[in-house]
Amino acid sequence: MSKKMGDIESFEKSWQGRTEAYYNHWTRGAPKNQVQFAFRNHWIVIKELMNNKNFNNGKRYLEVGCGRGSISSYFSDAGYECSLLDISEEAINIAKEIFRRNELKAKFKIGDAINMPFNDNSFDIIVSIGLLEHFGDIKPLIKEQIRVLDKGGIFLGYVVPKYRDNVQNDYNWINDILKGYVSESKKIIQPQKEELYRTDYDSKKYIKIMKKNGLHDIHASGIYPLPMISHSIKFPFTLMPEKSEKVLLKYFRKCLEEQKKQSDINPWLCEEGYGQAFLIWGFKK
Ligand SMILES: C[S@@+](CC[C@H](N)C(=O)[O-])C[C@H]1O[C@@H](n2cnc3c(N)ncnc32)[C@H](O)[C@@H]1O
Repeated sequence: MSKKMGDIESFEKSWQGRTEAYYNHWTRGAPKNQVQFAFRNHWIVIKELMNNKNFNNGKRYLEVGCGRGSISSYFSDAGYECSLLDISEEAINIAKEIFRRNELKAKFKIGDAINMPFNDNSFDIIVSIGLLEHFGDIKPLIKEQIRVLDKGGIFLGYVVPKYRDNVQNDYNWINDILKGYVSESKKIIQPQKEELYRTDYDSKKYIKIMKKNGLHDIHASGIYPLPMISHSIKFPFTLMPEKSEKVLLKYFRKCLEEQKKQSDINPWLCEEGYGQAFLIWGFKK
């Protein structure tokens, strides 16, 4: 998880006292910034993946390492029975507050992803976004998620490795310019962002474990083929002013439209190693 294995201190610090922690990455209407846009596209992709003959079509949903529960907001709004788990009490309090403000329903649990307070076969959908890469030993973590997943359930992990040559690399010069501007202007003083422990495993390592532990119809794909543009892209991400986000979204929409003309695959998916992350998914036998 964090820099020192088995230590959640870095995550707790990341959530504490930051305005970014309360950003709402879910919206029912049109996305207003790049992170809302990203989560809207994650949701569209996940819905497409759930449209599979091996899925039991159940509604019992769990997000592991939920943070503020952005993807879960989509599930809750769509009527799924949502449970959200995080080891950080701070994160759970933030998620509860965001759900309360948006009048979304869910059950919240503080708990460890390695040893979850749920019975076997309790869920039909298990999702994690940005969790798996923070563990050096992913075997027990994946095993535990498959334990609480019911037959015909879908396991889905969104993994953000330490990419060096992905799409972000081509745009980091813009972020360097923004950093320069921000350091010249008046800044709101916020605590220094923590460096989080992160692995660099590719999907093959995950797929092997998923196969061994009772999943089938297993797949992987790159996802999020666009850059993150901000003076601070470290977790938790800092947004630019509203007007700048609007300009960026116009460009992003155009990029996806162009991509759509070239392929039948959802343009939010891409080659593994190119996008900001990769997705792994499979169904319980
Ligand atoms: C990078 S954040 C992602 C948050 C959220 N999924 C999102 O999409 O914004 C990773 C989250 O995993 C949580 N986490 C880290 N180790 C954990 C563990 N052992 N069990 C449960 N949650 C954990 C952290 O507290 C943090 O909220």
